[in-house]
Amino acid sequence: MEGSINILGFAGSLRKGSYNKALLSAALELAAKSAAMETFDLEGIPPFNQDMENQPPQKVKEFKARIRAADAILIATPEYNYSIPGVLKNAIDWASRPYGDNAFEGKPAAIMGASVGMLGTARAQYDLRRSFVFLNMYILNRPEVMVPFAHDKIDKDGKVTDEKTREKIRELLESLVIWTKRLRGE
Ligand SMILES: Cc1cc2nc3c(=O)[nH]c(=O)nc-3n(C[C@H](O)[C@H](O)[C@H](O)COP(=O)(O)O)c2cc1C
Repeated sequence: MEGSINILGFAGSLRKGSYNKALLSAALELAAKSAAMETFDLEGIPPFNQDMENQPPQKVKEFKARIRAADAILIATPEYNYSIPGVLKNAIDWASRPYGDNAFEGKPAAIMGASVGMLGTARAQYDLRRSFVFLNMYILNRPEVMVPFAHDKIDKDGKVTDEKTREKIRELLESLVIWTKRLRGE
């Protein structure tokens, strides 16, 4: 429907107290004004096995259907060993297969990430962008939402307490909505 954008968000961490899940929760709260947003939990997606790509597990079928139903994708990724976590790469690999059935094809997407380190997932985010080029996604360039020292900005209940971080997430959502509308000619 013209004017209405629905965003599917997922985090590349399975951890209960995940800072990246906290970023997504803040986005859920902040999206209310500009878009409808839902999240998907990657918990339960098994390791990718190409022998199974034509009969994927139920959880993967659900993931692909949710991606396809969304107008835009929002990913909150941790940085593991200077790259994206295996859990996230694994989920992306499933959703991109079999060849010719890439659920991400042509999707607008935005990336954010929180880490306890000083670069706030910068390296992981650029790796993720590289994969999304191959998947023919339309990745928002700006703003870059990289949240360093996340333990100082997110409380133990998973609330993003840092006002500058919340403002960046708000800006990212607004830009993603504008970008998605622009891509569909609105
Ligand atoms: C396997 C592993 C590798 C990590 N590598 C990095 C890294 O390269 N850069 C970084 O800033 N933090 C790294 N960290 C620390 C993460 O920033 C931290 O665990 C963060 O809380 C993960 O995100 P989450 O809270 O959403 O689970 C690593 C953590 C793990 C478990």
